[in-house]
Amino acid sequence: MSEAVKSSFIGVFDSGAGGISVLRALVAELPHEHFRYFGDSAHAPYGDLGEERIRELSVEHATRMINEGAKAIVIACNTATSAAAQYLREMFPELPIIGIEPALKPAALAGGRILVLATEATVHLEKYHVLAATYGADDMTTVACSGLVELIEAGNLDDPAIEAYLQEKIGHLRGQVDSVVLGCTHYPFLKRQISEVLGDVAFFDGAEGTARNLRRRLVEHDLLAPEEEIGTVSLASSIPGQVELYQRLLNA
Ligand code: DGL
Repeated sequence: MSEAVKSSFIGVFDSGAGGISVLRALVAELPHEHFRYFGDSAHAPYGDLGEERIRELSVEHATRMINEGAKAIVIACNTATSAAAQYLREMFPELPIIGIEPALKPAALAGGRILVLATEATVHLEKYHVLAATYGADDMTTVACSGLVELIEAGNLDDPAIEAYLQEKIGHLRGQVDSVVLGCTHYPFLKRQISEVLGDVAFFDGAEGTARNLRRRLVEHDLLAPEEEIGTVSLASSIPGQVELYQRLLNA
């Protein structure tokens, strides 16, 4: 592959701030790469939209980034991956398109009682049913957390409304869960709050696996950036004012 293409950027998108939890892992795994992040906060939460609309928005973001010269795309959103990853791979077969899915497999391997938290759309789409049938443990509870993404996008992670939400949604499971699968990329920002409600639990999310997967796919396509450069990260949003939140979460 030409040096110019190798030095090009990797496009990363999510419905908003959530994908920053993935971006952090991508930058840690691949510090020489250039990343351009786009959060579609104007249309969040994707988890409450229909499959077709999520796909339409995902195609819009991926197409724009590819037209701008992206050498690879990371869908840093479980919901958009379920609705659009396969479709995008068929649209752009020459380009690595990496998605993220709830980390059921490592959680099941660790054993114990598992709680999966994800968006409404993720838990209802077929991809999750296949995943659960393949890796789902006997003792697995799935809870769709409609309304939680909005609280995170509001930017105050110490808002008592978040704790109240979690208390109401999963408080009854305190002491009955060993592992929590964070099946939405927004949720890793709430580990402390979830632990406060559930007690001592282990967390699993797909960010590191996605970063390793991206590395593997870049190697396969001979697309790794040259190592003499240090990579750059740029952040953009469909609500420009949200970039400050993305930056804060990236630095946290
Ligand atoms: N962060 C996204 C995910 O991983 C979606 C959140 C939403 O917009 O509903 O599923």
